[in-house]
Amino acid sequence: MTILDIPELALVALVGVSGSGKSTFAARHFAPSQVLASDAFRAMVADDENDQSASADAFGALHHVAGVRLRRGRLTVVDATNLQPHARAGLVQVAREHDVLPVAIVLDVPEALAWERTQARADRDFDRQVLARMQRDLRRSYGQLAREGFRKVHVLRGVEEIDAAEVRLDK
Ligand code: GTP
Ligand code: MG
Repeated sequence: MTILDIPELALVALVGVSGSGKSTFAARHFAPSQVLASDAFRAMVADDENDQSASADAFGALHHVAGVRLRRGRLTVVDATNLQPHARAGLVQVAREHDVLPVAIVLDVPEALAWERTQARADRDFDRQVLARMQRDLRRSYGQLAREGFRKVHVLRGVEEIDAAEVRLDK
């Protein structure tokens, strides 16, 4: 079993390609109200969770809500791919503004499995190259997360390790 130690008050960024199991992981380990999902915010601002043109507004709203939650002392989990430095920088900034530790949990599954999973979903429609690009961004992210300000970086590699992980909140 892998224990993921997380401060009781943290901003947790899930990091992983589409189909890596971020939303599944979030639902398993955190209360629904603790999880801010980019999909849900796209739906909130544009009535369509896949409307990429709504991303800037959706993330603006997500960052705002994350900030309000952290100000109120509530653990907050961000369920988005978080594969690009600029996306993560926004989260680190929100965490810093509220004196809260930013923590990353990386879910790294084989690309073929992620592809298989997304293909099986009616609500995901992108081509293989998009996933390959995400995978490249993930590889690059490894060396960057700590430098970007994430105080803890938990990496779960493969389905078994992800399945066996437990979150422990530190007081
Ligand atoms: P995006 O929202 O597209 O970025 O994907 P995601 O990372 O949130 O993945 P999600 O949790 O939605 O999982 C994708 C698919 O894989 C879903 O249909 C899940 O049911 C399946 N899945 C995720 N985690 C597991 C797992 O641990 N075991 C199994 N068997 N299936 C899983
Ligand atoms: Mg998801």
